[in-house]
Amino acid sequence: MRLAGKIALITGSGSGIGKAAALLFAQEGATVIVNDLDAQKGEETVQEIVGMGSKGIFIQADVTDPASVQAMVEQTIAAFGHIDVLFNNAGISGVGALHEVEPDVWDRVMSVNIRGVYLPSKYALPHMMQRKSGSIINMSSCIAEIGLAKRASYSATKGAVLALTKSMQVDYAPYDIRVNALLPGTILTPFVENYLNNSYENPEAAIESLKKRQLSGELGRPEDVAKAALFLASDESKLMMGSPLYIDGGVVFGKNA
Ligand SMILES: NC(=O)c1ccc[n+]([C@@H]2O[C@H](COP(=O)([O-])OP(=O)(O)OC[C@H]3O[C@@H](n4cnc5c(N)ncnc54)[C@H](O)[C@@H]3O)[C@@H](O)[C@H]2O)c1
Repeated sequence: MRLAGKIALITGSGSGIGKAAALLFAQEGATVIVNDLDAQKGEETVQEIVGMGSKGIFIQADVTDPASVQAMVEQTIAAFGHIDVLFNNAGISGVGALHEVEPDVWDRVMSVNIRGVYLPSKYALPHMMQRKSGSIINMSSCIAEIGLAKRASYSATKGAVLALTKSMQVDYAPYDIRVNALLPGTILTPFVENYLNNSYENPEAAIESLKKRQLSGELGRPEDVAKAALFLASDESKLMMGSPLYIDGGVVFGKNA
């Protein structure tokens, strides 16, 4: 019970990494506020949490919309009194070299992946500051550190999230709030499956080439990242402040040839 009694809000937790984190956090004693744009997927996550005998509720909100994000935070405070953990996980992919990306696609990727970190933090932080306590986990990616083909818009957002994490940490350290970033490598989720199916003629061959750029041999699973998020959410990581945590099978620091 590493999160016993904690209140945790996880954006985009109807699928993939967010869902795995919601289930793990709940199993470890947290009450989880499952957020997603997709109500069906979000409700399914909560059903699984409740089915395990743990606690969770679903709140539908678009992380890019100030009014709905503010309402989500206020609903959480009204129901549970405070927020201990905010996991800014929701995100979308952006495919293409820079000249191939249309302006509306660029803007949507920026909006979900950066504004979607800014808004939930903006509305949750005053409550954390009042209690002088909190852990914020921002979803970056190993692409913030290395160049990868045809991911211009996406890489720009994940680099921004890493830079934002460090500045947030400086501003909120006086309030005993920790802000850290997760930098996963390729994790097999619906997000990556869509990307592979839409970007490659032979998705199976693409998976093999993705494996080659890692040292681990296998691609990551959502549960691998959820465990890292659990560490950042818990008091066990109390000395981690403004840090990137890599869960990438050696992509950033290893070289496979
Ligand atoms: N899968 C990977 O390989 C990988 C690697 C590094 C980083 N990430 C990041 O991890 C996060 C989760 O990715 P995933 O692979 O689990 O993806 P996923 O597509 O499986 O899940 C993302 C969830 O976010 C929700 N969402 C999208 N836009 C939203 C919005 N505007 N408001 C609220 N919810 C919204 C989706 O409905 C979906 O349920 C993303 O930020 C992604 O960039 C993923």
